[in-house]
Amino acid sequence: MKNVLILGANSAMARAMAREIAGPEVQLILASRNVQELEKTAQDLTLRKKSPRPIVLAFDACKLEQHERFVAQVLAKVKTLDEVYLFFGQLHPQEQAQKDFQLAQEMLVANYVGAASILERVALHMEEKGRGLIVGVSSVAGDRGRQSNYLYGSSKAGLTTYLQGLRNRLAHKGVHVLTVKPGFVDTPMTHHMKKGLLFARPETIAAGIVKAKRRKKDTVYLPGFWKWIMLVVTSIPEWIFKKMRM
Ligand SMILES: NC(=O)c1ccc[n+]([C@@H]2O[C@H](COP(=O)([O-])OP(=O)(O)OC[C@H]3O[C@@H](n4cnc5c(N)ncnc54)[C@H](OP(=O)(O)O)[C@@H]3O)[C@@H](O)[C@H]2O)c1
Repeated sequence: MKNVLILGANSAMARAMAREIAGPEVQLILASRNVQELEKTAQDLTLRKKSPRPIVLAFDACKLEQHERFVAQVLAKVKTLDEVYLFFGQLHPQEQAQKDFQLAQEMLVANYVGAASILERVALHMEEKGRGLIVGVSSVAGDRGRQSNYLYGSSKAGLTTYLQGLRNRLAHKGVHVLTVKPGFVDTPMTHHMKKGLLFARPETIAAGIVKAKRRKKDTVYLPGFWKWIMLVVTSIPEWIFKKMRM
């Protein structure tokens, strides 16, 4: 039996991922703030995928003081964690966050500090076991600071660099770390945005993660064309970039 923890399991992408992973040989642990929603996903997976009933646990990325106890609670139930997926995230529109720093703080704490806090605890466990996989969902928004989303983007830049360092540390210990950088995805997080051709479905991201995992990739842009878009975006000299409206 493989034990798989999904953090932020109510996210649209996480639900698509859970449907990809679930099966008779997988014990899922679904964790997020809204436990009632998790219960619905757990029931659906049990019926549709014939998987063992997922374990449902309350988890808040911003309640840092509870993270050590949370991991202990998970390990009391499953003993070993084979795979951990970090999907939780917050996005407040840049203009609102500029006017109300409380919103900016929520993003910075949930997306970066909270992520580092929980993954450090997970890393200790996997390091000791000498095996495991950590998948962290960051964003293309972390590749370059832009006026339209630098508060969210900087939280994801922090997460990307954190995951890079974690990968370097754990590569020597038999643990693999995969960084996922999605572009625009049609989920509740982007409900306020006008949808266009660049928007992907959560299922596309989940299928891309499965493929990247199989290929033992370190970092993956999803869909893949974002690699080329971000290559262009990050190649523009700063003296030109600062004058652009992006
Ligand atoms: N959508 C995009 O275009 C896009 C692009 C690039 C990267 N991403 C990243 O991809 C990941 C998944 O995004 P999504 O679009 O699937 O999101 P989503 O459907 O809007 O869901 C986000 C989830 O994050 C959870 N969450 C927020 N704050 C939390 C906290 N403090 N503690 C625990 N859980 C928390 C929420 O859980 P509850 O419902 O339980 O409160 C919510 O279900 C995020 O990290 C996001 O930043 C998204």
